[in-house]
Amino acid sequence: MSHISNINVSNGSIKDINTELICIGIYKDKSMTNSGSELGLNFKEAISSAIEVGDVKGKIGEVNYFYINNQRIAVIGLGKKEDISENTVRLASGAAIRSTISKKAKSVTIDCFCSGIESCQAMGEGIVLGSYQFLKYKTKDKNKFEPGNVTVLGANQIEIDRGCAIGSSVCFARDLSNNPGNIATPTHLAESAKKISNTEAMKVTVFDREEFTEMGMGGLAGVAQGTDEPPKFIIMEYNNGGDEKPKVLVGKGLTFDSGGISIKPASKMDEMKYDMCGSTVVLGVFHALAALKPELNVVGIIPSTENLNGAKAYKPGDILTAYNGKTIEVLNTDAEGRVILADGLSYASKHYDPEYILDFATLTGAVVISLGHVATGVMGTNDELIKKVKDSSSASGEKVWELPLWPEYCKQVQSEIADVKNMGAPMQAGSIAGGAFLKEFVGENIPWVHFDIAGTAWGAKPSSINPKGSATGWGVRLVLDMMKV
Ligand code: BES
Ligand code: MG
Ligand code: ZN
Repeated sequence: MSHISNINVSNGSIKDINTELICIGIYKDKSMTNSGSELGLNFKEAISSAIEVGDVKGKIGEVNYFYINNQRIAVIGLGKKEDISENTVRLASGAAIRSTISKKAKSVTIDCFCSGIESCQAMGEGIVLGSYQFLKYKTKDKNKFEPGNVTVLGANQIEIDRGCAIGSSVCFARDLSNNPGNIATPTHLAESAKKISNTEAMKVTVFDREEFTEMGMGGLAGVAQGTDEPPKFIIMEYNNGGDEKPKVLVGKGLTFDSGGISIKPASKMDEMKYDMCGSTVVLGVFHALAALKPELNVVGIIPSTENLNGAKAYKPGDILTAYNGKTIEVLNTDAEGRVILADGLSYASKHYDPEYILDFATLTGAVVISLGHVATGVMGTNDELIKKVKDSSSASGEKVWELPLWPEYCKQVQSEIADVKNMGAPMQAGSIAGGAFLKEFVGENIPWVHFDIAGTAWGAKPSSINPKGSATGWGVRLVLDMMKV
């Protein structure tokens, strides 16, 4: 684990600062954050010249260095003052901590960037997210540098701490996701769930292969037939909200997806180690619940297995019976995510009386074709809940786009010989077929939204808060905003 997990706040003067780096914010109109004016005449002259020359423009995330009176100062662009938002503050804060890492500065002081927005939470998030590095498998020290002491000048400590806790939960999700298939096994996910449930309000239950097969989870059992790696059905319960209905999160925990008998091409198959990123959204949210202890009831459900090609692997044509009793005709063993989620959604619908169910899954390559790595495809049955999702999407900056679940599409997953089939019309509306299939396993009248995160869980354009070659932890912040954690 490598990220900042503690941020100090100081109300002192920048003149008394002794850190190896100082970060000051600058807007497009070239005005600076509060402490800029206190840095003295030499700095003023240097920055005027840099503006004159055209190097300092104040664009979001832009970084320029100045060396004045033995101090190293990074001037971080904040964009247009009138356009300041949680998103721009988050990005600029990420840029500030990235500059700390690139200069190998052990300590940094960052002037508060939050003038004009409601809370400093986004700044805490940005610092932590920007500091994230996945160093676990780098054995040479020269490739590693972690910043130590971070101080924000003139910010609100409580809001910074909240942001820091939320950012840390996203990093927790990223760390789990980035571990390869030989490490992040279903057992590892179950252990991680147990590790974070250190508060009294949290309980974890894990069913093994024999148990969930016996219970009637034919979907998970079917997909897991092809691997010797022990599959798990993981349930997390957080009870701190009295008798309010629980909010239920279901996540696809497919720790490696070869496609099974309908095997995938070799190119980029390694990326299928990320096929458990739905489950890490759930685990990331629970990590934040454990830290922030909000008054809520939340349930997390993670069906977890590999999809491999062992001698007993399930085959195209097989018919499986899911936990709600519906039969599934398997037309392609690579459409396995929906088959294991069928049990997760059925279990959630039967055993809880959910306020709503949200499911997260790297479900279809088709969503990458339609929305690229920019937005998550969402589908659901309840307009009010969809609206909530869209509102939290705007607030968190995690983009979603709604796809329709019209009856014409729902018909496409009806099977000739079973209740449903795990593919829609060939080469058409692939992501919607995934959603239409899942809908069959959600209890009637339970508000539900499906998030297809195949494009957003990894592979997004790197930014100051999303490092290259890492899972993003997409969804954790959106869900926490939705639940008002
Ligand atoms: N895990 C994949 C989806 C995926 C593919 C995510 C590429 C990210 C990048 C999923 O299990 C899958 O293989 N889906 C199939 C469904 C199809 C066979 C109906 C797909 O998208 O090709
Ligand atoms: Mg697959
Ligand atoms: Zn998959």
